[in-house]
Amino acid sequence: MDRIRIIGGNELRGTIPISGAKNAALPLMIAALLTDETLILDNVPRLADVALLQRILGNHGVDIMSAGKRPGDHEYQGQTLHISAKTIVDTTAPYELVSKMRASFWVIAPLIARMHEAKVSLPGGCAIGTRPVDLLIMALERLGAEITIDGGYVIAKAPGGLKGATIAFPKVTVSGTHVALMAATLARGTTIIDNAACEPEIVDVADCLNKMGAKITGAGTPRITIEGVAKLHGARHTVLPDRIETGTYAMAVAMAGGEVQLSGARPELLQAALDVLTAAGATITVNNDGIKIARNGAGISPVTVTTAPFPGFPTDLQAQLMALMTRAKGASHITETIFENRFMHVQELARFGAKISLDGETATIDGVSKLRGAPVMATDLRASVSLVIAALAAEGETMVNRIYHLDRGFERLEEKLSACGANIERISG
Ligand code: UD1
Repeated sequence: MDRIRIIGGNELRGTIPISGAKNAALPLMIAALLTDETLILDNVPRLADVALLQRILGNHGVDIMSAGKRPGDHEYQGQTLHISAKTIVDTTAPYELVSKMRASFWVIAPLIARMHEAKVSLPGGCAIGTRPVDLLIMALERLGAEITIDGGYVIAKAPGGLKGATIAFPKVTVSGTHVALMAATLARGTTIIDNAACEPEIVDVADCLNKMGAKITGAGTPRITIEGVAKLHGARHTVLPDRIETGTYAMAVAMAGGEVQLSGARPELLQAALDVLTAAGATITVNNDGIKIARNGAGISPVTVTTAPFPGFPTDLQAQLMALMTRAKGASHITETIFENRFMHVQELARFGAKISLDGETATIDGVSKLRGAPVMATDLRASVSLVIAALAAEGETMVNRIYHLDRGFERLEEKLSACGANIERISG
């Protein structure tokens, strides 16, 4: 199993290209199941989760062609996928595949919408809380699907097709919103999604669906309206830049010091996180190419932050912020409101000498003047990268074990950081 070795203490200087967003690429690829024509996606990140989803879609009969590099392409340029679900040969998504990645459960929406039936294993994915799918099932039932659960599978049937309805989510859910949105595009009549997630990845998927012939308005607001259409067609769409990757590298620079251009980043996708970084003492400049982040000399100021749905501070940056705050000049408080049990990084950060105490949903971090490198274990995707951030500022060597979690969501992390001066290398095997 690969590991990453980091010797801390180097400042970061240079440019980091931001990849396409994993959390948009996955639902966009799944949306290709809605049409028998080809969906072309540009700027798809090269990630383990994307490769796994390609396998899952292949199992349904989807052909995926990934275009090779063109002369002049930047080495970090995302890939172009041509996804064609001309004939869906199988409406079952098996346990062996779905259990490896939670988002693959979302195939249930296009399958039931287009094929009027689906059998999808209950999901797995990151071990951050129980992560149920009750609201996804509720949304499909509202659209007229009959749902049964048997042998660990969700079996959905809608013999006469789905029918538009009002879906009011009792809590904001990204997965629920994606599923409702995709399913409603091919339902008869009008669907209204109330208390919809406003995340930029929802807007990106809705934009793509509209290019495919869907009639969606209001994406990015809590009320989305979808006029169902009989058929969707092919389209071409570019995946938006990854705001979580952007925020992660911004925190890495705030931690290690130096100055880095985050090329292709879009500040409006993560304003809450940029505001927190500014309060923590980083200097952020927006320019034509993205965002420049710097921290020179002065230390890190403590902050109090609560995670919230977009446009609030994202839960997917909570672990990284906690790593940064381990070196703040005073006590920080971070409250996690989206997922229970998303504090698995706390005990690993303690191995660097961090002082963190937990009280329910709130972590109190008493900043220390020095972290020391240590062997640590990656637990989930975002927790893993928080260990890398800590290691960049720790004295001596850190070995991050079990980095397959990192490869699920960060494209060539060690290359991007070492190009900016970090002493970081992947050790294979
Ligand atoms: C997505 C993101 C993930 C991010 C999260 C919150 C992808 C692939 N993943 O995950 O990176 O951390 O949004 O921004 O886009 N819930 C229920 N019942 C349900 C569905 C969700 O109770 O049926 C709860 C969850 O347990 C959680 C909350 O709702 O407490 C939010 O979950 P949700 O927004 O659906 O997260 P995901 O879409 O799984």
